[in-house]
Amino acid sequence: MSTNLTSQSQNPVYPIIWQEDKVVLIDQTQLPEKYTTVEINDYQEMAQAIKTMIVRGAPAIGIAAAYGMYLGARELTTTDRDTFLNQLEEIAQQLRQTRPTAVNLFWAIARMLKTAQETQGSVEQLQASLLATAQAIQAEDLQTCQAIGDRGLEVLPSEPQKLTLLTHCNAGALATAGYGTALGVVRSAWREGRLNRVYADETRPRLQGAKLTSWECVQEGIPVTVITDNMAAHCMKQGLIDAVVVGADRITANGDAANKIGTYSLAIAAVAHNIPFFVAAPLSTIDFKLATGSEIPIEERHPSEIYQVGETVLCPPGVEFYNPAFDVTPAELITAIITEKGAVPPGKLGELRVF
Ligand code: MRU
Repeated sequence: MSTNLTSQSQNPVYPIIWQEDKVVLIDQTQLPEKYTTVEINDYQEMAQAIKTMIVRGAPAIGIAAAYGMYLGARELTTTDRDTFLNQLEEIAQQLRQTRPTAVNLFWAIARMLKTAQETQGSVEQLQASLLATAQAIQAEDLQTCQAIGDRGLEVLPSEPQKLTLLTHCNAGALATAGYGTALGVVRSAWREGRLNRVYADETRPRLQGAKLTSWECVQEGIPVTVITDNMAAHCMKQGLIDAVVVGADRITANGDAANKIGTYSLAIAAVAHNIPFFVAAPLSTIDFKLATGSEIPIEERHPSEIYQVGETVLCPPGVEFYNPAFDVTPAELITAIITEKGAVPPGKLGELRVF
């Protein structure tokens, strides 16, 4: 893995780029202080980049894992098809162990394995179709996010004409192939003259809202106000917020939605203030195999994300920590789930099932 410090950031933002024979990732751990890119040459490097959150956000993790599968596949030297498929499954297993909550990771790996199984011909042909599938997953995600953004406009409140939206974490271009899911809705609203401004929760402990969402908005001139997470209910009570739009890492068949820790309390606050609460996500984020959100594996991350800010230690020795990275918002708190096929109340998610 090698890092390049580049002064020039892109607009629009594409966090994952296939470049001839390698993947180039924007290093999201360095934003907004430094715009750097990291070159990924093999699947071990990709697994590490996902674990350390150089690349993060559910759809982006899926795309990165798909390229990881290809990078692993191209290193396999066997010419025997069955051996190739067995070795590819071992690579898949290592990539699956990077992060447990976002289902897009598992969805993308499954799609890559299916491609390999269904491609006829030599190992070289299998490798070529794996690269084509990773690129297709990426290209489809960009279109999907643009559709989510536009379909979101259909369900946003009609009044006031210019809306103030609140979002949590980063469900933007950086978390997808580009454009974003929740931030895709924000982008579409901005394009159509329907956005006053977006409030971005800072999103403790890793600050994706303060560091990434605000950075994306500034790149595009979208007015953005950052608040700490514990200010959201107060802002709602003051009448500052017209609707909440968040992303999701996994949505279960009953419409429960896992997203960044803090989303659940935001939904409770929104319902208490009679403010619509939308979850924007691609169909690939819906896990119809799980009946309810209680079955979603919740990632727990290192305590240092809580007890330390930069080099500064916040707490005395002897304190214990609990650091779940996600929570589950129950379906009954969600006004609608916005997908590329349209927005539905969580109870009607089954109508969107295509597989
Ligand atoms: O831990 P992260 O930064 O990967 O978590 C990201 C989120 O929770 C996003 O809101 C979610 O993945 C949706 S991204 C379109």
